[in-house]
Amino acid sequence: MRLIHISDLHFTTFFRTNNFFQIESVLKHAIDLKGDHIIITGDLTDNADPKDFMILRKLFEKLKLIDGNRFSLVIGNHDIFGGAQSAEDIFTFPEKCGKVNYDRKVREFYNYFPELFNNSVYLNHKNVFPFAKIINNFLIIGLNSIEPYSKINNPFASNGKIGIPQLNETYRIFERYKDENFRKIVLVHHHFNKIEVTENSSNKLWQKIEKQTMKLKKKKRLLKFFNQFGVELVLHGHYHVSNEYKRKGIRFSNAGASLKGSESGNLFLNVIDITDEVININLEEIPNVKAVERFNGDLVDQNFIDRVLLKLELSQ
Ligand SMILES: [Fe+2]
Repeated sequence: MRLIHISDLHFTTFFRTNNFFQIESVLKHAIDLKGDHIIITGDLTDNADPKDFMILRKLFEKLKLIDGNRFSLVIGNHDIFGGAQSAEDIFTFPEKCGKVNYDRKVREFYNYFPELFNNSVYLNHKNVFPFAKIINNFLIIGLNSIEPYSKINNPFASNGKIGIPQLNETYRIFERYKDENFRKIVLVHHHFNKIEVTENSSNKLWQKIEKQTMKLKKKKRLLKFFNQFGVELVLHGHYHVSNEYKRKGIRFSNAGASLKGSESGNLFLNVIDITDEVININLEEIPNVKAVERFNGDLVDQNFIDRVLLKLELSQ
C-alpha cells in the first residue's frame, strides 16, 4: 500500500500573492505517484475563509480527487480559527477566536467535501470526527485534534487536544473491528514530537512561545491508547517541518513543510510505502513553481478569485 501524505496548504486569497499553483503542482505530483490513497492532514486554508475552501474544492474536482476512496482530509486549527493575517490582527485575533462557533466550523469543513467522508465505515454525523475508513486491509482513523479557544488555556487557538468523548468513539471503532486483523493508521493535525529550541538562536524567544502555543496536550495518554490498539503509523502536520520519527514504537510522518518547502525552495511530498515487513517513509522533493501575483488591492480581490474559478471551470 502506498500513501501520499501532504499537510498544511495554508491557502488564502487574502494576500497579494498566494500559493495556489504550488498546491496544484503538489497535488498533480501526488496523483502521478500512483498511491492507493492521498491524505492532507489539516490547515487546508490559512484563514478558514469559505471562498478559499470553495477554490480548493474546485481544484480537487478538476484533479478528480473528490472521491473518499482516493482522498482523505482532517481538519487543522486554521480551518476553524484562521490566523493573524496582518500586524494589527495579532491584537484582534483572540477576540475573533472567541466569537468562532467551533462546532459550526467543523460542520462547514465537512460540508465543503462531503463526498470524502461518504465511504466511512464509521462517521458520527454530529461531530464528523472521528471517522474511519477501510482501505485495502487498513483501518484509517481521522481525528480532530483542535482544542477549542480559551483565553487562558489556548490563547492563540493553535494548541491541540483530543478529549475523552472522541477517544471513546475511537475505542468503539477499534472494538468493532478487533477480529478483522486490519492494520491501523491514524490521521491527525497536531505533532507528537518536541519542538527543539536552538540555543543561541535569535528566534529562541519565538521558538519558546511556539512550543507553548502549538502543543498537543496529553500526548502520553494518546500514545498509550494507540499502542493498546496496535496503531502502527500516525500522519500529521501543524509543525512546519517534513520528517519522520518514532515514539513508543509508533511511526510518525510529518508533512508540515509540504508547501513551505526546503531551503533550496523545493516543495515536499511524504511517500509512505507499507509492506508486510516494513514501512518506508520517503520525502519526495518537487520543483517549486512561481507564486501567483494578484492584480491589486490589499484585501480580497474578487477579480483574482473569479479568474481562478473560471480557469478551473474551463479546464474541467
Ligand atoms: Fe496548524
